[in-house]
Amino acid sequence: MTKVITYGTYDLMHYGHVRLLERAKALGDYLIVGVTAEDFDKQRGKINVKQSLEERIANVRATGLADQIIVEEYEGQKIDDIKRYDVDIFTVGSDWVGVFDYLNEYCKVVYLDRTQGISSTQLRQENSVKIGIVGASRVVNKFGNECGYVNGIEVAGVCTDNTKVLSEELQGAELTGDFTQLLTKVDAVYIYSTPELHYDQAKQALLAGKHVLCESPIALKKEQCIELFQIAKEKGLVLQESIKTAYSLAYSRLVLLAKGGKIGKIVSVDTSCTSLKDLPEGWGSLDDWGPTAMLPVLQLLGTDYRSIEVLSQFNEETGFDSFTKVNFRYDHSVASVKVANGVKSEGELIVSGTKGYIYVPAPWWKTDYFEVRFENPDNNKRYFYQLDGEGIRFAIVSFIKAIEGIQSTGYIEESVSEAISGVIEYSKENAIVL
Ligand code: CTP
Repeated sequence: MTKVITYGTYDLMHYGHVRLLERAKALGDYLIVGVTAEDFDKQRGKINVKQSLEERIANVRATGLADQIIVEEYEGQKIDDIKRYDVDIFTVGSDWVGVFDYLNEYCKVVYLDRTQGISSTQLRQENSVKIGIVGASRVVNKFGNECGYVNGIEVAGVCTDNTKVLSEELQGAELTGDFTQLLTKVDAVYIYSTPELHYDQAKQALLAGKHVLCESPIALKKEQCIELFQIAKEKGLVLQESIKTAYSLAYSRLVLLAKGGKIGKIVSVDTSCTSLKDLPEGWGSLDDWGPTAMLPVLQLLGTDYRSIEVLSQFNEETGFDSFTKVNFRYDHSVASVKVANGVKSEGELIVSGTKGYIYVPAPWWKTDYFEVRFENPDNNKRYFYQLDGEGIRFAIVSFIKAIEGIQSTGYIEESVSEAISGVIEYSKENAIVL
């Protein structure tokens, strides 16, 4: 019996896939199809596959061509599979010519002509979400650039009063200085204007029926944030806060481990985010770094803190805080958040528990690595996760999936966004001046 094996993602099954499987089957008597797992796809840069692994397996099964379906989970697995299943022929489409020649050592390698004119990428691009970007800082370039890595999103316009900051790619997008005009051209907006404008712009966009991805903080008052989520719900729109760290794999796995009791009961969360850089006009340290720094506190200990104390040092020229420390007091735990643009410190995150602690080295907010440490160092464990694009592209993928109803916006809970706005609101009135 001649055994044939082939691999693929098989997202949004199309006739190119079917033709490939038909010809693969015809090469032998028994066809094994390896379907790629989500984590493996992400590692190799396919980040916005639309269908779940289960659906993609069902796609392959429905062709009736596979005698066996397996899941591809790790790099190098093909060699293992070929040996394990005693495979005679490995085959894939001609887009991979040469890449798998190293498998000749284990079996015959056949590249089949790829069917022209169709691909999953192309199908994912159809009905792209047209996004408009509003903002006056260089971050809008980064965002525009990251959109290029995600299928199903297209930058349709940019609203800025500072065209000098725009990169060449964005210079090509339609430019306007008028937010209302931008809204007429798009399905969604990404807001990176000064914090003072976020609430008004998000509200205007939602009322115009547009989805909103808003850089933190969504609003400078808690009530405003609650109101925005309410409007979004009533209108069936997505309102999502964009804190890059929330979308990084290492960070989200860390939260799951801590919540799952790995270090016992969490008693203290301490975060620090500082950089000696000039902030754009209209931003203070707490506006800029606060949402990121508060994220682990609010996600791990909750939003129901008993009291907070805010201590700040202000920049005399700008009138904004250049250093702020927020101390949170909960019923049975505490947290501290240190943010600064005028003071430098170690940017680490430490989550202390009754059995051990989680340590994330600087800069923890864009980490691909953390450690879980115990009294007995033999029990320590290190975790690594690849991070591409500082989390921005994963924020975009999550936003698109939420718009398409494939996935909820669960990375940052509404209550967390509201609490972030609440702390910032409190700080504006109650900061103790150092
Ligand atoms: N394939 C093909 N002809 C196409 C598309 C895919 O022969 N028009 C083959 C690929 O070469 C591969 C298999 O089908 O052997 C599974 O490919 P997959 O990567 O799942 O599909 P693509 O449409 O290429 O997906 P993407 O656009 O995300 O790369």
